[in-house]
Amino acid sequence: MKNATFAPRFEIKGRAKDMGTKKLYIETYGCQMNVNDTEVIFSILADEGYERTENMDQADVILANTCSVRDNAEQRIWGRIDVFRQQKKARPDVVVGIVGCMAERLKDALLDSRKVDLVAGPDAYRTLPQLLRDVAPDRPQINVLLSHEETYGDIRPVRIDKNGVSAFISIMRGCNNVCSYCVVPYTRGAERSRDPKTIVREACEVFQAGYKEVTLLGQNVDSYYWKDADDTVVDFADLLEQVALISPQLRVRYSTSHPKDISDKLIETMGRHENICRSIHLPVQSGSDAMLVKMRRRYTRAWYLDRVAKIRSVMPDCAISTDIIAGFCGETEQDHQDTLSIMREVGYDAAFMFQYSERPGTLAARNYPDDVPPEVKTRRLNEIIALQNELSFESNRRDVGKVFRILVEGPSKRNAAELCGRNSAGKMCVFPDTEHRAGDYLDVRVLSCTSATLICQLA
Ligand code: SAH
Ligand code: SF4
Ligand code: F3S
Repeated sequence: MKNATFAPRFEIKGRAKDMGTKKLYIETYGCQMNVNDTEVIFSILADEGYERTENMDQADVILANTCSVRDNAEQRIWGRIDVFRQQKKARPDVVVGIVGCMAERLKDALLDSRKVDLVAGPDAYRTLPQLLRDVAPDRPQINVLLSHEETYGDIRPVRIDKNGVSAFISIMRGCNNVCSYCVVPYTRGAERSRDPKTIVREACEVFQAGYKEVTLLGQNVDSYYWKDADDTVVDFADLLEQVALISPQLRVRYSTSHPKDISDKLIETMGRHENICRSIHLPVQSGSDAMLVKMRRRYTRAWYLDRVAKIRSVMPDCAISTDIIAGFCGETEQDHQDTLSIMREVGYDAAFMFQYSERPGTLAARNYPDDVPPEVKTRRLNEIIALQNELSFESNRRDVGKVFRILVEGPSKRNAAELCGRNSAGKMCVFPDTEHRAGDYLDVRVLSCTSATLICQLA
């Protein structure tokens, strides 16, 4: 699609506005996959003559690429929709659209609210040009069909990152896991893998364009699977190796691994390539076997700890981060203590921590009462956060005195006389320097730390 020669597609004379100067504004919520999807949408609509704007007041089309994973994510979008409506009051021609996971979950209900003109699910982005052509004040447009094939593999995303150093590449879409609390399989549909040739080509292109880091994205990258016409099979470890071999100067990251599927082959492949970053995101969700069964995670605490031991035996310097849910259905005080104890046992370097939020239609919503009182959920989450702060600080303290190779991302947020960049483990390092630039590799020595940052100097 992106390769098609540009030709004006509007035939009505005198509508100069339609001849390639329409402005598109997109707000992106949710996970990294959504960030990459926004880049895909910019690419599809650039072919239609839409220009990107970061100023909502100037936009002809306002889209929100949305997330449904927790109720508060959706509440936030409803708040934004009211803001978009004010734009529409001032400029009635503006088109307001909701795309992404919330579009998929709520479907017509979004149109019934009469607050938006367009609704498109995650597999419907190729039809956005048509939907935008057809939309009219009394004719809202919707496409929420999910696909078994769509991977947008042939589309070159328009990069929206600010620093030009690190790019996201989606390698698969959807999820087949059906964890009982999770809405993602309903909003993103069945799992499908993208042709590895298009992935490696895209990684080569971003490297040639000056990027130094790619992050391969999927809800469960361990189940990446591709079989070519000649029956050659490419699994995730093979794909990761192909991308790593592009250049030792290209760092490779990925997210997310599912503990039940992370293989010895994958861990050993990482161990063989220094440019595959020493960082694994391995969401545990809970340390209690009873909760893990109810969550339908399909691993046990002992299995999880065995995977951590394998990672550490191959890569002692590998950071491990996680996701944790506090207050899932029926969670007892002992279950909660089990979560705190697995956190200590693993010694996570970082974690994303959430209160359980019931999502309509999921297995948990249908089968288990959401019975942990809100104040107990909050207290348990706070205990989890406090412990993680200690663990993150401990992890950083162990790095004081070490020298790391970092990839510069740009000036640090707090101080223009300092640069920041990440080490292979993904830890943020700041150091006084104004000479180097985003994209440079440098060696820095850690002098001190907080729980979030390593304070360094050039080594
Ligand atoms: N595919 C990834 C995670 C996708 S969602 C994986 O399986 O690890 C990101 C995180 O949101 C999850 O890991 C989980 O911790 C959290 N999450 C998902 N559904 C949730 C819910 N209903 N309530 C609270 N947190 C939830
Ligand atoms: Fe949701 Fe589980 Fe799939 Fe992750 S693996 S997206 S938590 S269903
Ligand atoms: Fe949210 Fe959809 Fe990602 S629900 S976490 S944006 S897959």
